[in-house]
Amino acid sequence: MSSPDSTAAATQIVPEQVPSRAMGRHLDRQDGVAKVTGAATYAVEHPVDGDVLHAWLVTSTTARGRVLRVDASDALAHPGVRRVLDHTSAPRLADTEDRELAVLQDEHIGFRGQIVALVVATSSEAAREGALLVRVHQDEEAAEVVFDEHSATYAPEEVNAGAETDTVDGDPDAALAAAPVTVDATYTTPHEFNSPMEPHAATATWDGALLTLHDSTQAVHAVRATLAPVLGLEPEQVRVLAPYVGGGFGSKGLPHAPEVAAALAALAFPGHPVRLAVTRQQMFALTGYRTATRSRVRLGAEPDGTLVALRHDTTSQTSRIKEFAEQSATAARMMYAAPHRATTHRVAALDVPVPSWMRAPGEMPGMHAHEVALDELAVATGVDPIDLRERNEPEVDPESGKPFNGRRLVECLRLGAERFGWSERPARPRSRAEGDWWVGTGVASATYPMLFSPGNTARIRSLGEGRYGVDVGAVDLGTGARTVLVQIAADALRVAPDCIDLAIGDTDLPFATVAGGSSGTSSWGSAIAAAAQQFRHDHGATPDPGLHTTAASGAYTDTDGHAMHSFGAVFAEARVHRWTGEVRVSRLHGVYSVGRVINPMTARSQLLGALTMGLSAALHEEGWRDPRTGHVVTQDLATYHVAAHADVLDLQAEWLEEEDHLATPMGSRGIGEIGIVGTSAAVANATFHATGVRVRSLPITADHFL
Ligand code: MOS
Repeated sequence: MSSPDSTAAATQIVPEQVPSRAMGRHLDRQDGVAKVTGAATYAVEHPVDGDVLHAWLVTSTTARGRVLRVDASDALAHPGVRRVLDHTSAPRLADTEDRELAVLQDEHIGFRGQIVALVVATSSEAAREGALLVRVHQDEEAAEVVFDEHSATYAPEEVNAGAETDTVDGDPDAALAAAPVTVDATYTTPHEFNSPMEPHAATATWDGALLTLHDSTQAVHAVRATLAPVLGLEPEQVRVLAPYVGGGFGSKGLPHAPEVAAALAALAFPGHPVRLAVTRQQMFALTGYRTATRSRVRLGAEPDGTLVALRHDTTSQTSRIKEFAEQSATAARMMYAAPHRATTHRVAALDVPVPSWMRAPGEMPGMHAHEVALDELAVATGVDPIDLRERNEPEVDPESGKPFNGRRLVECLRLGAERFGWSERPARPRSRAEGDWWVGTGVASATYPMLFSPGNTARIRSLGEGRYGVDVGAVDLGTGARTVLVQIAADALRVAPDCIDLAIGDTDLPFATVAGGSSGTSSWGSAIAAAAQQFRHDHGATPDPGLHTTAASGAYTDTDGHAMHSFGAVFAEARVHRWTGEVRVSRLHGVYSVGRVINPMTARSQLLGALTMGLSAALHEEGWRDPRTGHVVTQDLATYHVAAHADVLDLQAEWLEEEDHLATPMGSRGIGEIGIVGTSAAVANATFHATGVRVRSLPITADHFL
């Protein structure tokens, strides 16, 4: 199949290090004014020509069964309603293998909240009213929707990011049995839901030859690559644009059912732009979520805290219609030195919505369990939690045997300890009170792999008078990518940032991979570095306008020779109210080693945002599913609580000055996810230190302390 995504045509080169002039310094957000003045248009706001239609999703009220009949008579009688599509009338898809994306193709219902009809109307209000008037007759079958310690589990095909499901080194069970000190505890994390400010949305137009999709996505090229074959179109027949995105956290990293629904509505109404806005409520079933996890962690140590063995056995749930496995135990493989180690992942397949990516999938719940277990070992051995982590610092990556690219965890811990005032901490829990509040402090380590996506391509165009157009199909999901890519391009071309005209967020631009896995800036930036280098080679420093060069970045990141990771240390101070059990996090400080920071302002915002999301997971976020119906009852922000400003008190993020010459030509690594890793563990450890009560489940709610 010929694909415009192909990078075969672009010169592939391994770029040299980019000298830093703009990088490392402040640059205002390139889209800041457009965003705060409302000039930035999001997916369903995007101005389009023609007679606009609006689609509204009708979703199943049973978790497992069949649609017998969709009675649209009342809906069709409503003014403005043009058509109601169901599984008997929707356009046929060419590929229905991915059952999450096989929207309206057969009568089967795999989870509550699945799309069972689509109302198309002349206004959003009419579409919504029409959807309320659709009667869906369903045949209900017994469903399994509860995930708990009794759920039957199996080994998934692979876990997220292609990691192994199981690993074993040495004889961990024998070593655990012989260890002088052991910790054996089970930690649980709940279903958590991505809650970006902009819910998922799309505007789709089919002109008979080209499907144009203004989408709220983290990856325009990936949406095209996935949707084109599903729709039976050539990739050239699908154009995806995402100039502005109101957050994603992973839920917009992969296309989900609503994008297919928008495309189906457009195919059914050629020439009409169709707008489809997923409601906040519908997001809780249709756009992915972090599955609940249960992690049993066993640690065996010498009396001085030196680990001899560890096991991390984790289970999560997936959907019967599509497998997704959270890789919660992978961090345990590389985090600390222990000669005997084992990790396993198991999943239970239920009649539930399809889980997917949510910020630091795997590392977030896994490191929560792991770092609370470390705190329990600190208590069991009487060793200070920071000393304990230093004592178990590995010389090389325990899993691969490779040297690390520059593992500076201990420096993060030490700098954080100094800033936070760790040395004043009383060793004994429940030893400090202020008024009616018990006060305690806790620490946890953070880690995230340095991920690099190959194949990214960029185009450099001379605009004359020292100005350059820089084109790459990257997406800025609100994180600042648009700004840091300008800084990278400026340095790569040896010009000032205001000489760069950057274009992103469009499949008509050179191929780019997902704004996910904290890999976006590393991967796109390397392509810009490659293209700029080739451009300067081809056309010199004073090129005529119109000259251009397209190049793809060859593999720069040294994953062959080194284990590539970022690290951090999170310190929390928690206050637990003596009489009500209310928990407040009065201080939360993170120190990170993430390579060169390209823009201190956007980086700080990324890290503070992720720390806040970790605080939110620690204290608030918890999705509840009705065990009888499978309905996610916490399906709005009134019942699914996320941290608000009032929850955020003294929040600080800083980083070590460094350049990682093994990671990227910019010296940077990713920063999008590491801030959420370990944060909930630091809070949990602080609440233990405050109260002496060990809470092993998230969120850490008041009832645990009463
Ligand atoms: Mo993130 S979960 O990799 O978008």
